[in-house]
Amino acid sequence: MQHVGGGVHRQHRCSAGVSGQSRSARGHGCSCGATSVSETRHRRAAIARSVYQDTGVRRPGVGAVAAQSRGSRVVGTPPRWKNPWRLPHGPPRMNASIRDPQRRRLLQGLAMSTVALALPTWARAATKAADDAPILRAIPSSGERIPVVGLGTNAYGVQTAEEKAPLREVLQRLAQVPNSVIDTAPSYRNSEAVLGELIDELGLRERFFIATKVTAPGGDVAAGIAQMEASFRHLRTDTIDLMMVHNLNGAEAILPTLLEWKQAGRLRHIGITTSNNEQHAETAALIRAHPLDVVQVNYSLGNRAAEDIVFPAAQERGTAVVLNVPLGGRRGSLFGRVKDVPLPDWAAESGASSWAQLFLKYNLGHPAVTAVLPGTTRVSNLEDNLGAGRGALPDAAQRRRIEAFWDALPE
Ligand SMILES: NC(=O)c1ccc[n+]([C@@H]2O[C@H](COP(=O)([O-])OP(=O)(O)OC[C@H]3O[C@@H](n4cnc5c(N)ncnc54)[C@H](OP(=O)(O)O)[C@@H]3O)[C@@H](O)[C@H]2O)c1
Repeated sequence: MQHVGGGVHRQHRCSAGVSGQSRSARGHGCSCGATSVSETRHRRAAIARSVYQDTGVRRPGVGAVAAQSRGSRVVGTPPRWKNPWRLPHGPPRMNASIRDPQRRRLLQGLAMSTVALALPTWARAATKAADDAPILRAIPSSGERIPVVGLGTNAYGVQTAEEKAPLREVLQRLAQVPNSVIDTAPSYRNSEAVLGELIDELGLRERFFIATKVTAPGGDVAAGIAQMEASFRHLRTDTIDLMMVHNLNGAEAILPTLLEWKQAGRLRHIGITTSNNEQHAETAALIRAHPLDVVQVNYSLGNRAAEDIVFPAAQERGTAVVLNVPLGGRRGSLFGRVKDVPLPDWAAESGASSWAQLFLKYNLGHPAVTAVLPGTTRVSNLEDNLGAGRGALPDAAQRRRIEAFWDALPE
């Protein structure tokens, strides 16, 4: 059986007798175990395809319908419905007269209001449904689309059934947005084990894009390997969607192993993380030196340093950027500064109806950013955060306005 569709399949040009995808071979998308394209060619080709390309989320599935619903088609089986996550014709071409952003927004506004008035009720309902749909963005190197709002779990290291109950609720809600990123790490106490237990119990592994981390202190690769093996056991999975070197610890030493494991299919994407401004220069250098799929970095309205050094390197290399501490972190929370400040009316222009949504939408409005990973242990806060991943996002001018407002607030 031959695969078509899905960015990686196309370049892979698998000549082996492929019988479908298995979770253990999701690294390059086939179960043949072969790696026929070099990493460099793979990256170049993947970067050349833009976010707009006809790629879908490749997830392992049973049968053709599951494969179609996940964005890959199987030859000989006609597609029953089109994957709404795909843009079939590439980026829309712009007429010179509407390249001016202000004029374009005006024309779009006029067009939308005219269309809305003319639409029958069913079509207006469809437009509303599209507004309510989660925004997805592609990881440039693989073309895989992830929802722009994921989940940070550094507070998931809990013990008792009572403590786990609200976390189970959070995971159940998050699973309603397929392929949502869950970010964890071996250093978040037993967070990996709690996630593994709850996800297994709920039977939700295929609904999530699981990201975790590894360190190789002092360049100790054996220690890093032991840590990754433990992560597989704790997370109860045979494939990890994203493995990142935590705080760049031992990055140069362990990255070749991560690359090998990716080629073998145990890891689907690889990357590095930092949440320390002092490491931004080293982070940018690693992005330029290694074929990384993802960089995770600290960025929020209260700390925009990553814009200057990390984001440009990632944009240049086609590395996806996911943000940690997007709400300022558990210690430097942004909420304290707006405790007694009402949300400005103009927040609605960016589709935000809460401070959390404005903060997250501000982050997502930056063109370098692929997704944000707000940490929460409450389903009500998750619900709020998921609202940031739907509807409008601030453009450059709106982002400047948000910054000016924030900078003028007393600390
Ligand atoms: N170097 C690294 O690799 C690194 C470093 C730091 C963090 N991370 C990752 O990034 C994730 C996010 O960082 P973080 O969790 O420290 O900070 P954060 O996401 O900026 O903020 C989390 C805090 O905000 C609260 N919160 C979440 N949503 C809210 C909402 N809608 N309204 C009000 N409060 C809300 C949370 O409380 P509740 O739990 O009560 O909702 C929690 O106290 C971590 O969980 C971790 O996965 C990685």
